[in-house]
Amino acid sequence: MKTKISAVILAAGEGKRLKIREVKALAPILGQRMIDYPIEEFKKFVHKRSLDWDVGIVIGHRRDEVREYLEKKYSDSIFLAIQEQQLGTADAINSYFKAYNERFVKHSDKHSDYTLVICADTPLIRAEDMDYLFSQIIESSNEIVAVAATFLAANPLGYGRIVRGNVNGFHIVEEKDLDNSTREIKEVNSGFYIFKTSYLIQALSEIKNNNNAGEFYLTDAFEDSAAVKAVLFNNGNKFLGVNTLEQLEEIEKIFRREKISSLREEGVRFVDADSVFIDYAVKIGRNSLVYPGVVLEGECNIGERVVLESGSVIRQTIIENDVVIKAYTYIEDSIIKSKAQIGPFAHLRPASDIGENVKVGNFVEVKKSILRKGVKVSHLSYVGDAEVGEESNVGCGFITCNYDGKKKHKTTIGKNVFIGSDCQAVAPVEIASNSFVAAGSTITENIPEGGFAIARSRQVTKPGMAKRFLATEKK
Ligand code: UD1
Ligand code: CA
Repeated sequence: MKTKISAVILAAGEGKRLKIREVKALAPILGQRMIDYPIEEFKKFVHKRSLDWDVGIVIGHRRDEVREYLEKKYSDSIFLAIQEQQLGTADAINSYFKAYNERFVKHSDKHSDYTLVICADTPLIRAEDMDYLFSQIIESSNEIVAVAATFLAANPLGYGRIVRGNVNGFHIVEEKDLDNSTREIKEVNSGFYIFKTSYLIQALSEIKNNNNAGEFYLTDAFEDSAAVKAVLFNNGNKFLGVNTLEQLEEIEKIFRREKISSLREEGVRFVDADSVFIDYAVKIGRNSLVYPGVVLEGECNIGERVVLESGSVIRQTIIENDVVIKAYTYIEDSIIKSKAQIGPFAHLRPASDIGENVKVGNFVEVKKSILRKGVKVSHLSYVGDAEVGEESNVGCGFITCNYDGKKKHKTTIGKNVFIGSDCQAVAPVEIASNSFVAAGSTITENIPEGGFAIARSRQVTKPGMAKRFLATEKK
């Protein structure tokens, strides 16, 4: 039978010091939530080792928010355990086993071979670290029943100190229980462990809360015996926890740099990578060029040879090959097909579908509209709730009057239409293919195929009157 490992992610604590709106486990990092990181890394680890697995998450504080997020995102690959009161990390694991038994009690073999314990707030622990810690327990030919990842902290304040046994094993002394001899110890507990499940269950049954905090400490599962092992990791930075806004920023920066270097590896060129913000889920094709100050959020899928100029903010958008996004353009929830040029200073609001070779120029706003292949809207326009057919040219200062104060209405413009400057289309209205709208027209009636429409007042010209007019003005 395949070896099975369960992950327990501890996320019931309050995280008082992290002053954000969201509950701590849902702190945003690069467009993901903090709790996504251990889940994703654990999945990578079990996949590589081809282990059977499941993930349990202990929730407590603001549990409804965490539950709502997790159930939506992970549906059936994880399960939740509720810890009613935060009585300590050992109590959290007890809540986990209670939920585990309720859920899996029908299975013939109830428990996994191994249980990996990790905190929701240490997102830098990677699949390879899990793999390394796991190797320390499985390569021990059955003697070792528990391993803990430790590191050397320049400032060990707040961490459990690792007290190595005289002969073998180790135990952990928590901050509140330190004495003068243990206070100076620099080797500390990372809070990341793997247990043989049978040992963990046995150890939990013996853990008491007779310490200065009155909490049930999971760290009491370790003892000075040959069966437990403290595994010292060289790079302690990977155990950096998110307890403050400063640490959240620092961790986000680490992820961002990694994200950018992996894109760089794939052939994306950054003019100044430090000034660019790119979420975890963004994809960019090779030979694309990213100028300083670009922000890419959510699931953006950007093609090859795309140019993203300075100051552009792009969210949740698909951009095909060879598109140029000129400086200071703002785009949300849209699709931009190949070779289109957008901006500078353009605003594509949600559901803009911009066709191949389209040109959207400066100070143009598009909302919920389809601009088919080759359309040009080059200057100062608002195109909302509209459809514009292939190769049509929309002049400067065009406005779809899509809102009558009560409802939104649609404007339909056919193929090869020419719309002169400073026109309005009062929706609902249809301007059929091959028609021509003279400059300055306010279109309120449909124009048939090939029609010519002019809708402006006639000009009155009085020869020689300018001088007289100005003279009367001055008096
Ligand atoms: C814990 C360790 C400490 C280690 C440190 C590393 C214990 C007793 N101490 O201390 O040795 O150096 O992590 O960061 O484990 N949680 C629950 N339910 C609870 C209590 C905590 O789910 O009842 C969760 C928290 O949400 C958090 C994690 O467990 O994700 C750790 O709890 P926390 O109170 O932060 O422990 P530390 O004092 O940091
Ligand atoms: Ca902590």
